[in-house]
Amino acid sequence: MWHPDSWQALPLRQFPPYPDPDALAGATAELRRLPPLVTVNEIEQLQQQLADAAIGKRFLLQGGDCAESFSDCTSERITGKLKILLQMSLVLLHGLNVPIIRVGRIAGQYAKPRSDDSETRDGLTLPSYRGDLINAAAFSVEARTPNPQRLLTGYSLASLTLNYIRALTDSGFADLAEAEHWNLDFMADSPRAAEYQQIVEEVRRAFALLQSAGATPPRERSEFFTCHEALHLHYESALTRRADAHGMPGRWYNMSTHLPWVGMRTAALHGAHIEYLRGIANPVAVKVGPGMSAADLRALCERLNPGRIPGRLTLIHRFGAARINDHLPALIEAVRQEGQPVLWCCDPMHGNTQLTSSGLKTRRFDDILAELEQAFAVHRGLGSVLGGVHFELTGEAVTECTGGARGLAEHDLSRAYESLVDPRLNGEQALEMALAIVRLRQGRLSAVGSTSAQVW
Ligand code: PEP
Ligand code: CO
Repeated sequence: MWHPDSWQALPLRQFPPYPDPDALAGATAELRRLPPLVTVNEIEQLQQQLADAAIGKRFLLQGGDCAESFSDCTSERITGKLKILLQMSLVLLHGLNVPIIRVGRIAGQYAKPRSDDSETRDGLTLPSYRGDLINAAAFSVEARTPNPQRLLTGYSLASLTLNYIRALTDSGFADLAEAEHWNLDFMADSPRAAEYQQIVEEVRRAFALLQSAGATPPRERSEFFTCHEALHLHYESALTRRADAHGMPGRWYNMSTHLPWVGMRTAALHGAHIEYLRGIANPVAVKVGPGMSAADLRALCERLNPGRIPGRLTLIHRFGAARINDHLPALIEAVRQEGQPVLWCCDPMHGNTQLTSSGLKTRRFDDILAELEQAFAVHRGLGSVLGGVHFELTGEAVTECTGGARGLAEHDLSRAYESLVDPRLNGEQALEMALAIVRLRQGRLSAVGSTSAQVW
């Protein structure tokens, strides 16, 4: 029998030992008292939109930091992320001709799975940094000891972040008429600026034409959803609340985010994370990597979506450019045989991580693009739909991934490498990626949508 804490009886991966279990229990009890961050209506709306994306009538753009840090809860950083996602979605809308679902890895992306439980520097071994929700990155005993107070800080900062996003979108910041205010600093001298500005102009003209012809009026409010990895199950279950929806009484929703996902390291069929995910009413996503067999995936789909509800399950595949062709086809076939209406989304970041000679984690722009290109081709070849993309990106001018129009090289990386975990595309590389996705798809999409005022 499922309940929000039934996962407690199952093996829990990626959970560090808290030195004071009573303090952890106290923090989660406090979280349970606090109000939710998102609403059931928003969650349900997203699920319907994801169902459309699964059949090619919309397209999912998911992106943000690998790990948000508490110190990034500032006006500038939040607007920066919003701006780059809006710019990308404008490019995708124009090029793919379907409405874009914007989902930020934001307002709660604070917990990280790690390959190693500990880290050793100069003979000193300490617990790994696991994201600001759990411990701090500084290399000291105090910083690295899991601290339950961080759950409450994370909740508060997620709520401040979401509040600001809502304030911005409510006041029209994400509306097309505001597109000129989305430009980030890199636009001033970007090799891609002219191409982007032309798209902005064309979309504006199309909307103006529709409006002057009296067609569908523009949306009052542009939508923006949130997602994060549902890793810290004490946090997630404390924010799981019962609500009535669709005439169904008392369904449990994770109300800390619209779209919780489970990462590759915690996607074990009989593990705690899948147990938690199976019982909530949100749309959910699972990362799928090279270790997942067709049989595993079938069983996973059955567990998470026995009712085969469209929009309920998103599979985010992340194989790496060198492996996708070998692994993806069998999984697409398996899911199809099950009659599962999943939304397929490609994360071309996590299978393409490399270490530089100086030990920095990086990713090559061309590898990311190559995985995307193959993903589109494999899906198309099998009559399947790749309905979304998932990126680690930031609006800031960081130097974490190599390549792109400015040709960032390995020796450039140290200039502005900020990420404490995985390398992100900077604003310019992210926009360029959106332009490239359109090129990959141009001429190959059926006309399932139109650039009407309604799609924004
Ligand atoms: C992530 O999305 O940051 C992540 C850890 O991904 P994965 O589970 O695919 O490795
Ligand atoms: Co990552």
